[in-house]
Amino acid sequence: MLIPNHVAIIMDGNGRWAQKMGKPRSYGHYFGTDNVRNIAIEANRLGVKVLTLYAFSTENWKRPQEEVNYLMSLPALFIDKFLKELMEKDIRISTIGDLSTLPASTVKVLQKAIDETKDNKSMTLIFAINYGGRDDIVQAVNKVIKSGEVREISEKDINVNISTAQYPDVDFMIRTSLDYRLSNFLLWQLSYAELYFTDCYWPEFDAERFDLAIEEYGRRQRRFGGLK
Ligand code: FPP
Repeated sequence: MLIPNHVAIIMDGNGRWAQKMGKPRSYGHYFGTDNVRNIAIEANRLGVKVLTLYAFSTENWKRPQEEVNYLMSLPALFIDKFLKELMEKDIRISTIGDLSTLPASTVKVLQKAIDETKDNKSMTLIFAINYGGRDDIVQAVNKVIKSGEVREISEKDINVNISTAQYPDVDFMIRTSLDYRLSNFLLWQLSYAELYFTDCYWPEFDAERFDLAIEEYGRRQRRFGGLK
């Protein structure tokens, strides 16, 4: 099976799944967090090198305060529950996005996970938190400006300054819950990614469904603008 190096996922549908079960939205986020573990373990098992998950967008602050607070507690929930297993599987945790405006307790727990897993080599699990794709490009351009050189910039300048500079571009982007949007996720890095949309809500997008998506990736013909 052809395995993409870098998979990115928009984990959508926690709320709708909870509603379907007659439960509050937080119930969906809770099981969505468990599913982060399931998909990370499966992606690592298949040989994916980088898995980037959209955990909180720069637009998610618009949600009711109570939901924002709950979403901010998820990194701690995840790390308390699964850090040991991620260590055993040699998975490294990293983040992209602006952590400076997150609650201190959220940043602290993320930092702990980043520090403890920093030497792990099998797969990098990147949480995009308070992340926006346009903001990412703006930050990259600002870094070039701050370097003090006055000149026209090139794609390479963005490539080396974008948040994911040390990783390969995204090969495969999955979005659950059947909205056909990018929602400001990794705009630069998705340029040549294969896109996959499924009607399945994130909490029920299990390892088997992930495998089916990866099989579909293997059937795609990537031409990068060239000919076959
Ligand atoms: C979108 O579903 C999902 C989110 C905004 C949150 C995603 C976060 C997780 C799955 C867990 C993150 C885990 C860690 C460890 C940071 P929605 O609520 O927009 O669903 P809806 O569109 O059905 O309302």
